[in-house]
Amino acid sequence: MAAQMGVAASGCDLAAGVESAAGDSKPKEQGKDKVAAGDIAQESQDPAGIQDKTERDFSMDCQATGCHAQMLLRPKNHKPAALGACRLCHRATGAQEDHRFNLIRDKKELCSFCHSPAPPEKFQHEPYVKGDCLKCHDPHGSTSSHLLLGKSAGDACQTCHNRQPLKHNHPPVAGGDCNACHETHQSREPHLLRSSEKELCIACHEDILADAAKAQSIHGVFQEQWCTGCHTAHTSDFEKLLVDRQVNLCLCCHDREIEVQPGKVLASIQDQLSSALYLHGPLKEGKCSPCHHPHFSEHRTLLRGNYPDSPYVEFSSAAYEICFTCHEERNFIEERTRRTGFRDGDRNLHYLHVNRTKGRRCAICHENHGSKNLKLVRQDFPFGDEEWKLPINYVATKTGGMCDSACHKTASYKNSD
Ligand code: HEC
Ligand code: HEC
Ligand code: HEC
Ligand code: HEC
Ligand code: HEC
Ligand code: HEC
Ligand code: HEC
Ligand code: HEC
Ligand code: HEC
Ligand code: HEC
Ligand code: HEC
Repeated sequence: MAAQMGVAASGCDLAAGVESAAGDSKPKEQGKDKVAAGDIAQESQDPAGIQDKTERDFSMDCQATGCHAQMLLRPKNHKPAALGACRLCHRATGAQEDHRFNLIRDKKELCSFCHSPAPPEKFQHEPYVKGDCLKCHDPHGSTSSHLLLGKSAGDACQTCHNRQPLKHNHPPVAGGDCNACHETHQSREPHLLRSSEKELCIACHEDILADAAKAQSIHGVFQEQWCTGCHTAHTSDFEKLLVDRQVNLCLCCHDREIEVQPGKVLASIQDQLSSALYLHGPLKEGKCSPCHHPHFSEHRTLLRGNYPDSPYVEFSSAAYEICFTCHEERNFIEERTRRTGFRDGDRNLHYLHVNRTKGRRCAICHENHGSKNLKLVRQDFPFGDEEWKLPINYVATKTGGMCDSACHKTASYKNSD
């Protein structure tokens, strides 16, 4: 966080203020280097002694007569104004009907006279550096805190950063709470952020780390807390504030093979999809997250449920948890049924292959993401450590299907009855 601006280290003592107000540029009195509200109050009650005869009596004219009284009816007032010490910034001259009310200091000194600037930090906000304090602050008072123009910090920012909200808006942004994330004068962090991007998001979203300790797989990009690589901080046309349509976002990295360890390579999902004629249901909707958690998971491969990682596995519903969140498990438990297309008459061929001690996992026959064949049936399947490709030679027929695989002799089934 940026250092607070100190009030008056630059020598804004009362006497000096008043003297300047009277147009005198005598050196400032030593040893009184803070603007104390009490001093200001005292000054405003007893202006006579130091007042030039041509100058108007602020405490009488400006407020008691009511002309500028409304100026101080807002809930938050700038201390010197609230105390009627108008002369610390203004000098009024001329007859009442025709008085001038000049500022006694130029833009550069107007505020810094009492508010000594904080030591400069690496990233500075342009209007702050230029001394355009009045682009954000009202010198007299405000309805919001910190003497900001408008009803909230967000309004003060809107004048220059007018962003049209898109479909989905981050609540702190929608609420105009720009300060929740940004410093407004200067910051050590890029984009004037209050803290590093990593700390910033987690400060409010600690809950998303709740189960991280139990995770079996963590997405590297999440672990590096590269949140804004996938999410926008402000507003988005895509659900969950994503920077792009989900599938495009994921494929911006998964459009190639990724070597995770020497010898272990993740397939290019883009290649799988672009060669496919049929996509798995959620992918037709442009989504990966129904099956993979984008942050981390208690299961391997960021999956949202168990899925066997070897070709042969003893059947249990729990082993296929991920598939059975969307597909009916009873179709793999009933030995005879007509509820699946993978049957010969009422003989359930899913049951036959899957539901046994050395059951075949789904991926022996099905692609996960997309396939050239109907029903996501594979062309071939990888086998053994060398990843030989064993052909399946599946053909969908009018009455069912047949396969001429490496597993067994040509077999066909009829499901048209
Ligand atoms: C901290 C310095 C400061 C103090 C104290 C201050 N003013 Fe001002 N005042 C300003 C500045 C700066 C402007 C010019 C604002 C602008 O240009 O946006 C201004 C403008 C004005 C204006 C003209 C524009 C307007 O906002 O209506 C009036 C009237 C005015 N001040 C009255 C007062 C009165 C009365 C007091 C005492 C109760 C007072 N001011 C105290 C800094 C101050
Ligand atoms: C004559 C001295 C003086 C001048 C000139 C002055 N201020 Fe102040 N300002 C004060 C005092 C006194 C306070 C109250 C500090 C406190 O309460 O700790 C204050 C408080 C503030 C605050 C904090 C209000 C809050 O609620 O947090 C802001 C913002 C501020 N001033 C902005 C300005 C700006 C902008 C200018 C130039 C237009 C300016 N000040 C000029 C004396 C001055
Ligand atoms: C872009 C808008 C903007 C500009 C320009 C700006 N401020 Fe501020 N200022 C704010 C906001 C917002 C806050 C309150 C939130 C915060 O602390 O960041 C604030 C807080 C303050 C405070 C009270 C808190 C503190 O840091 O002590 C003072 C005093 C202050 N500003 C003075 C100034 C002065 C003097 C200038 C000109 C040199 C200036 N500001 C320029 C927006 C601005
Ligand atoms: C008077 C005009 C003005 C106001 C008011 C203003 N800004 Fe800015 N802001 C700028 C300019 C000019 C830049 C620098 C050019 C740019 O990056 O667009 C900037 C840049 C920024 C940046 C980007 C810094 C970076 O390095 O990427 C942030 C963040 C920012 N402003 C936040 C705010 C917030 C928050 C507020 C309200 C408290 C605010 N601004 C009010 C003019 C303004
Ligand atoms: C939840 C935190 C958060 C809030 C709230 C927030 N910002 Fe930002 N803002 C960021 C982050 C993070 C960046 C860095 C750029 C990025 O990756 O999106 C940023 C970047 C910016 C930038 C510079 C880059 C750009 O997009 O032009 C501006 C200007 C800006 N914010 C203005 C604002 C304004 C104005 C508000 C209030 C309406 C606001 N921000 C509210 C987090 C936030
Ligand atoms: C000041 C608190 C705050 C900060 C800082 C913050 N958020 Fe949020 N965010 C919220 C709130 C409140 C919600 C709405 C409730 C929820 O989903 O937790 C939200 C929701 C979200 C959502 C879900 C949106 C949706 O449509 O369901 C995402 C994604 C998100 N934030 C990402 C981020 C990222 C990335 C950052 C860091 C740049 C960040 N947040 C920083 C408060 C914050
Ligand atoms: C910025 C690049 C990037 C983006 C965007 C990205 N990933 Fe990844 N992903 C990787 C890298 C690199 C790996 C390699 C292992 C690691 O670091 O987690 C990986 C690994 C994975 C894994 C395998 C994890 C394992 O343990 O075997 C899955 C599944 C995955 N990503 C899904 C997704 C999904 C779904 C999305 C979209 C929500 C996505 N990725 C977006 C870079 C990315
Ligand atoms: C690889 C891309 C990616 C990264 C990196 C990433 N997210 Fe997400 N995040 C997503 C996706 C996709 C969703 C939507 C999940 C869904 O649809 O269920 C999401 C959802 C969220 C949500 C909404 C709550 C929820 O679980 O649905 C929040 C909050 C969130 N992310 C915050 C963060 C934060 C904070 C970071 C950085 C620590 C981060 N994300 C990093 C892709 C990512
Ligand atoms: C219907 C569920 C489902 C959807 C939707 C889905 N996946 Fe997968 N994905 C899986 C399954 C199951 C595996 C695990 C295969 C295995 O290792 O046995 C997997 C594996 C992966 C792998 C690891 C590949 C490897 O070679 O080990 C990556 C990377 C991946 N998916 C990324 C994605 C991306 C990106 C998307 C969206 C474009 C996506 N997935 C959509 C179910 C899905
Ligand atoms: C998030 C839900 C979801 C998960 C998880 C899921 N699927 Fe699917 N699956 C679907 C949808 C939706 C369809 C499309 C159904 C349709 O088009 O009628 C589909 C279609 C299929 C098809 C092709 C059926 C057809 O009619 O084209 C097969 C085969 C398949 N899934 C296998 C699996 C396997 C194996 C798993 C586990 C690794 C799995 N699914 C996990 C939702 C899911
Ligand atoms: C031995 C190969 C094989 C295995 C193993 C296999 N399937 Fe199938 N599956 C098929 C064939 C072939 C079809 C197409 C049936 C047709 O002609 O309509 C199919 C069809 C499907 C369908 C489409 C709806 C239906 O029942 O007809 C789904 C969903 C499905 N399989 C899911 C799974 C899941 C989940 C697993 C693992 C638990 C799995 N399959 C294991 C070969 C297999």
